[in-house]
Amino acid sequence: MAAGLGKRMRSKLAKVLHPVLGRPMILYAVDLAERVAGRGVLVVVGHQGDRVKSLIETRKGGDATTHAVTVVEQGEQRGTGHAVMQARSAFMRDRRDPAAACLIMNGDTPLLTEATVRRLWEVHQAQQATLTVLTTVLDDPSGYGRVVRAGDSYEGAGAVLRIVEDRDASTMEARLQEVNVGTYIVDGPFLFEALDKLAPKNVQKEYYLTDLVGIAVERGLRVSAVAVGSPQEGLGINTRQQLAAAERALRDHVRQKWMTAGVTLQDPATTWIDADVIIGQDTVLYPHVTLEGATNIGEDCVVHSHVRLTDCGLGDRVTVLDSCVLKGATVDEDAVVGPFAHLRPGAVVRRRAKVGNFVEMKQAELGEGSKANHLTYLGDSRIGQKVNIGAGTITCNYDGVSKYETIVEDDVFVGSNALLIAPVRVGRGALIAAGSVVTQDVPPEALAIARATQMNRPGWATRRRALNPKKGVRAARGGTDIKKVARQKTKGKGKA
Ligand code: UD1
Ligand code: MG
Repeated sequence: MAAGLGKRMRSKLAKVLHPVLGRPMILYAVDLAERVAGRGVLVVVGHQGDRVKSLIETRKGGDATTHAVTVVEQGEQRGTGHAVMQARSAFMRDRRDPAAACLIMNGDTPLLTEATVRRLWEVHQAQQATLTVLTTVLDDPSGYGRVVRAGDSYEGAGAVLRIVEDRDASTMEARLQEVNVGTYIVDGPFLFEALDKLAPKNVQKEYYLTDLVGIAVERGLRVSAVAVGSPQEGLGINTRQQLAAAERALRDHVRQKWMTAGVTLQDPATTWIDADVIIGQDTVLYPHVTLEGATNIGEDCVVHSHVRLTDCGLGDRVTVLDSCVLKGATVDEDAVVGPFAHLRPGAVVRRRAKVGNFVEMKQAELGEGSKANHLTYLGDSRIGQKVNIGAGTITCNYDGVSKYETIVEDDVFVGSNALLIAPVRVGRGALIAAGSVVTQDVPPEALAIARATQMNRPGWATRRRALNPKKGVRAARGGTDIKKVARQKTKGKGKA
């Protein structure tokens, strides 16, 4: 169920689209349902339904071969029971066995594990229940539906009688600490017939799916309950506080996972790793490292502090020095990046290449063993192997209208502060003199010098000082009076 707006989030974004560890919340539920149930997963969408739909249809991860999720629309959100009603015809159409049980899940419980859902299913079968509900016991149950049991109404003490929503609970009921997690297994024939019996007789005037529990009990059908492994697992996200709590819990879980897999986290508390990140064995992450999106890091890499990698691929033995931002970049094995480098989408650093401080790359490849060590911009460029890009080199890829490509072949030496005005090609083994503005292709093995020729005027400085000793001294010390001196000189000439 993923149609709700999530009013309590106070957001312009539909709740299920909010990311947890970089993944939209709904994908946790969809992937889990798919893993447990295989094909035949149905997602009920409503608020920003188009976005939710396309997200599900284009999602990465999971098993590509089983991506057969049907999306159903709930035009008006009239409660969780109403949401499931919308799925009825698709279920009838798609399912071969209408008697099969259905797993129903909220879209806002990303901490739920596969093991728990499988246990729910086992208990449902073992107890031949009509409906089995997942519960948890919370210190603060506010906001959740309470599980009302026979007898003294405490978990295990008596049979489940019904679920009462927070807003509809009496003072006594509100004190109950066992709550509904929002994950159910319901036998198909009962489900679709009983949904018709739901009535919006509650504070919210909604069709509550949870009322099915009471309906089953009234008919003498068996209702079972299973408790989640840890209370945390049952966390439903309705508020930003709960979002932060889920994020915290999952983040820690992911850190533990990678440490168990042989990755060193020097300071786990400050290491942020998104859900879909992959990290190779013996890689070391310094404090304050952020790994986002579909980042994939090889073995024996070292990522220093204050580095953010988003959707990046790093080969083995890559070193990323401090304070780098990399997004959509590929860095092959044994390369070194940073400190203070900015690699933007399409940046490719080949084996043993080096990208140093204050270097920016975008849609640019730096070939094997090549170096761009200082203060450089490489955009829309292909740089060959063993090329030296001198300090301050800029590829001028943009003329204000279009972008053009710069090609630098193998073994080229680009002197410092060169401007390569694209489109331009520098042939293999050529040498670009420092400070050149290269506007034409450079043949292989050539020297290109494209800068004003230097003139030396012997004695000029001495003469200038003599013109006005006081000002001249200031100018000679590095003051800013040179122009003034020159003006005075011209005035003098005029008078003469
Ligand atoms: C629901 C349960 C509550 C349980 C809690 C666990 C009901 C009536 N209540 O309450 O017993 O303790 O989850 O977290 O089910 N949705 C739709 N269409 C709708 C309404 C909701 O698709 O018309 C979806 C939402 O997008 C969400 C899920 O259903 O993914 C649950 O809705 P939400 O509003 O969060 O229900 P809770 O108040 O949390
Ligand atoms: Mg909820």
